[in-house]
Amino acid sequence: MSDVPAGSLPKTGGELRTIGSGGAHLGRETTLVDICPQGKYSLRWTGDKMRDYINVGLIGIGAMGRTHFGCYRNNPHANITAICDIDERKRTGEWSTLSYNIGSEISDLVDVSGISVYESYADLIADPSVDLVDICLPTPLHASTTIEALRAGKDVFCEKPMAWDVDECNDIERAVNETGRKLMVGHCLRYWPQYVAAREIIRGGEFGDWRYASFHRSGGAPNWSWNNWLITGSQSGGVVLDMHIHDVDAALWWFGRPQSIHAAGVAIGALPTTVDSTWRYKGDKTVALHGSWDLNGGPFRYGFKVVLERGSLWFDSADSSPNLNLVSNDEVDVFPVYEESAYQLQLDDLVDCLRRGSALIHGTPKASSEAVEVAWEEMKQLQKAHQ
Ligand SMILES: NC(=O)c1ccc[n+]([C@@H]2O[C@H](COP(=O)([O-])OP(=O)(O)OC[C@H]3O[C@@H](n4cnc5c(N)ncnc54)[C@H](O)[C@@H]3O)[C@@H](O)[C@H]2O)c1
Repeated sequence: MSDVPAGSLPKTGGELRTIGSGGAHLGRETTLVDICPQGKYSLRWTGDKMRDYINVGLIGIGAMGRTHFGCYRNNPHANITAICDIDERKRTGEWSTLSYNIGSEISDLVDVSGISVYESYADLIADPSVDLVDICLPTPLHASTTIEALRAGKDVFCEKPMAWDVDECNDIERAVNETGRKLMVGHCLRYWPQYVAAREIIRGGEFGDWRYASFHRSGGAPNWSWNNWLITGSQSGGVVLDMHIHDVDAALWWFGRPQSIHAAGVAIGALPTTVDSTWRYKGDKTVALHGSWDLNGGPFRYGFKVVLERGSLWFDSADSSPNLNLVSNDEVDVFPVYEESAYQLQLDDLVDCLRRGSALIHGTPKASSEAVEVAWEEMKQLQKAHQ
């Protein structure tokens, strides 16, 4: 084992690093900061534009809503002022009924005193104390709630997929453009340390151009959701639109749009449970993606492999030490990755951008709509094969 040169290491830590400031010629004071840890740079306005707090209204206290609740609680610049769920027990803070926990540190009993609690999401959206509406609802509700919140003058975070289909995504994009509000979609791999680091290495060019990549993501079917919406194909789109879309977004982020897509898989009735997709790119390059929900259960596992001209990268969450590995000249380097929750990093970045009034880089409406479009291209091929 040998260390990889520091220059190729992903940046660590959660702090914004000031790279330069000034900008008198722009008419406002600005600071150029490194939006750690993505290794991207952004010009952000400082001074009177900076807000101390972002007041958050969270809709949907399910598996993901609970995780987001914890993330906002960890952020000193986020205030959860309102929550909403149609389930009465969740409105009282009794969250022990949540049968799936995506790494949330929030206990089963939450003190919701001091928080406005709503049964109807329309009431939360109308609450003047709320700056940011965070939507953790089943997919069929994404478009209507996002558009309603944007039109009420709120900034919005909506979980992935952005919406059920491209038509709905287009409606949302129109509302974003018309209102000028911000929307981030929860494509959390863009903050996932191993995926961020791998992209930096691929784009750094030190190991040559990429030739082949594979992504995999699998686990037991999610049979714990509210009213079983996740295992109802017409509501979740099954493994393709709900889970595999993470890898679709990551592949588009790393490599752009392919020239062709060939997808096959398994559907149980209207529920896609397995997808195997091959994307072909100019220059004889290939991306292979696998996603599956096993109705027999089993552990959640995900990862990727990338073959570059002079090195290969791989990561598998099932490894005893899930680092990013690079093999080059028959020698394996292990990239230490920072151990921060991607969900925390994602929402911290959102809160920070809203406080500064700066543009969002990840989970944009355009990129998220493209992920829905590609996932549907795969879904249609899969459905056709099952007719
Ligand atoms: N980014 C990720 O890694 C990730 C992981 C899991 C889920 N998600 C996404 O998060 C979203 C929610 O999924 P989940 O797993 O939390 O689902 P869930 O079934 O656990 O939770 C949904 C919640 O919404 C509530 N709800 C349903 N209809 C409502 C309504 N009309 N008004 C108010 N509340 C209502 C339910 O009572 C429930 O508490 C989905 O878009 C899903 O794709 C993302």
